[in-house]
Amino acid sequence: MTSKDICILAIESSCDDTAAAVIKDGKILSNMVAGQAIHELYGGVVPELASRAHQQNIVPVVDAALKKAEINVQSLDAIAFTNSPGLIGSLLVGVGFGKSMALALNLPIISVNHMEAHMLAHFIDEPKPNFPFMCLTVSGGHTMINILHSAHDIETIGQTLDDAAGEAFDKAAKLLGLPYPGGPLIDKYAQNGNPNAFQFPIPQIPELDFSFSGLKTSFMYFLNKQQSLDAEFINNNLPDICASYQDTIIKHLIQKLKKAIKIHRVKHIGIAGGVSANTALRKALVDLANELSIQSHIPAFEYCTDNAAMIAIAAHYKYLNNDFAPQSISPSAR
Ligand code: KG4
Ligand code: ZN
Repeated sequence: MTSKDICILAIESSCDDTAAAVIKDGKILSNMVAGQAIHELYGGVVPELASRAHQQNIVPVVDAALKKAEINVQSLDAIAFTNSPGLIGSLLVGVGFGKSMALALNLPIISVNHMEAHMLAHFIDEPKPNFPFMCLTVSGGHTMINILHSAHDIETIGQTLDDAAGEAFDKAAKLLGLPYPGGPLIDKYAQNGNPNAFQFPIPQIPELDFSFSGLKTSFMYFLNKQQSLDAEFINNNLPDICASYQDTIIKHLIQKLKKAIKIHRVKHIGIAGGVSANTALRKALVDLANELSIQSHIPAFEYCTDNAAMIAIAAHYKYLNNDFAPQSISPSAR
């Protein structure tokens, strides 16, 4: 078989999205996602409910991905799934399903790291980045800067010491009375706001690491103070509050990325993970690349938040590298 014939079914179930994709010849044939609205009621992901919803969704989502790709299970060469990091009860559904299906069809399995898959999402569409590729990955659970020396050699050079950037968005949104996940809503309101209306401290952390817990606390104190003076403060200033807070997060992210680029002298940079869907962050990355005369890469929206196409492309590279997992593999939360 040539590398061109490889056909893989990929499954993602690490958090609150049940997703399945089919990749053939390195090209995505289908990419299906079922979200879980139930968590909005609780203002955050409830692990037990997420796991149960995955149980309900996994068969229809996999079925839909195979149908959309017009692929019969007999044509598959491997089954891939996210193995870490994530909520253990959620991961177990995708891993258990993938392993069972592979056993029934006598196929090899490929285990994929969710964060590495976010970074490799850049290699789904053209133009693909050149190596070494520096990627700022910002999601609900992680914030990190990595250098991809190749698809198989990924080095972490900086990461958050406390909260993730996505958490900084979601927790602030909760304080503003917005539903979960609040990141996209802060993005939306910020588009009509003034980023200089209010000042928040940009976190000052050594090296290439990040911190968002202090910013989150200062935001909480700011809101408490303003609301004690004016009970309608949030209602009257929502776009400006969102734009100013979002701008502080983005300044922190971009300052560290700029520092990392200067140290490591890379020519190709990108952003990945759910927060890379943020309009202002996408613009800030392009501006930074223009300023430094280097190449920026931003994945399509559908490949930014959790999806199985990114698991599929990561699995495609692993297949080419003969990197298969044993049937005994079990998921890991970290
Ligand atoms: O990568 P992802 O879908 O799931 C994890 O692996 O965590 O990231 C989810 C995070 C959430 O915190 C969500 O609020 C944030 O990505 N997010 C955004 C935007 N879209 C999603 N944050 C800011 N602006 C957005 N447009
Ligand atoms: Zn993710």
